[in-house]
Amino acid sequence: MPILVFGSLNMDLVAQVPRLPQAGETLLGTGFATVPGGKGANQAVAAARLGAPTTMVGRVGNDSFGPLLCDSLRAAGVNTDLVVADHGPSGVALIAVDGVGENQIVVVPGANGHVDASDVGRLPLTAEPSVLLMQFEIPLMAVQAAAERASDHLVIVDPAPARADLPASFYGLIDILTPNQTEASQLTGVEVHDVATAMEAAQILRQRGTSIVIVKLGSQGAVAVSKSEVFHLPAFQVAAVDTVAAGDAFNGGLAVALWEGQSLRESMTWASAVAALSVMNAGAQPSMPTREQVEDFLGSHSS
Ligand code: ATP
Ligand code: RIB
Repeated sequence: MPILVFGSLNMDLVAQVPRLPQAGETLLGTGFATVPGGKGANQAVAAARLGAPTTMVGRVGNDSFGPLLCDSLRAAGVNTDLVVADHGPSGVALIAVDGVGENQIVVVPGANGHVDASDVGRLPLTAEPSVLLMQFEIPLMAVQAAAERASDHLVIVDPAPARADLPASFYGLIDILTPNQTEASQLTGVEVHDVATAMEAAQILRQRGTSIVIVKLGSQGAVAVSKSEVFHLPAFQVAAVDTVAAGDAFNGGLAVALWEGQSLRESMTWASAVAALSVMNAGAQPSMPTREQVEDFLGSHSS
């Protein structure tokens, strides 16, 4: 089982706004869409669209969103046999996207918040090496237990949304940690805003026990720190329409490229191309590109 995603499925309720609202402000939106999302499901769709056999493990609610979320995964080629229907509502994300593609997101976990040890036990980890992708939209205890179970596999954790209460024992369970700049700041106390501060934060996180740390910097690209390498990879220059799930596109692409045996730098270039294509289109899962689109893009762009 090459790519396994243990994480969230959300229905994204997306409002287009002229600018992001301030506290206490009411704004008139210019458009609305209901779009399948959730960091886990988005990463699964990204990997499956690139042609990798991908399985999702998680929970939806018993509301009308549950079947739609599973349908969206299946349409992309993701195996949903291990997504179970829970009591209560599915996860939802309330998203505002402004005219330059920036966003604000409030996630209400719903069924994702009920993921527990029984779901960890259902992870189909076999002797075959696989990549396990996780995020922080399911309970931390489940992520930690899954990482412990998957110690013979490549474990990639996107620590999103940010949380500052990670136990010291967590870092050593993770092969690759991929915070964005907000998450890297909250995890380290370094105010991450450029390549230098991202590298500083990445070094701190690596010293806590994670083998490779990649800090995602939006249009500034990403930095990577491993035992043998420290480098910055600029982003591809594209016109961003909607950056929702750019980080998920990146992680899905990274997982597939590493699983296929590409080097860290090659895998990050591939991941950056997947992410760049995703920001050129609206919506979380609908914006994930196919392998053919990524190959065409890489043939005609340099980062
Ligand atoms: P999200 O939370 O919306 O999923 P994120 O905050 O985790 O995203 P970002 O740092 O915004 O992740 O972006 C991830 C990657 O996507 C970047 O490292 C970069 O490669 C690519 N990317 C993001 N924004 C842009 C952009 N405007 N132009 C080109 N590439 C971009
Ligand atoms: O990373 C983007 C995702 O974050 C959205 O799809 C939304 O569901 C939130 O979880």
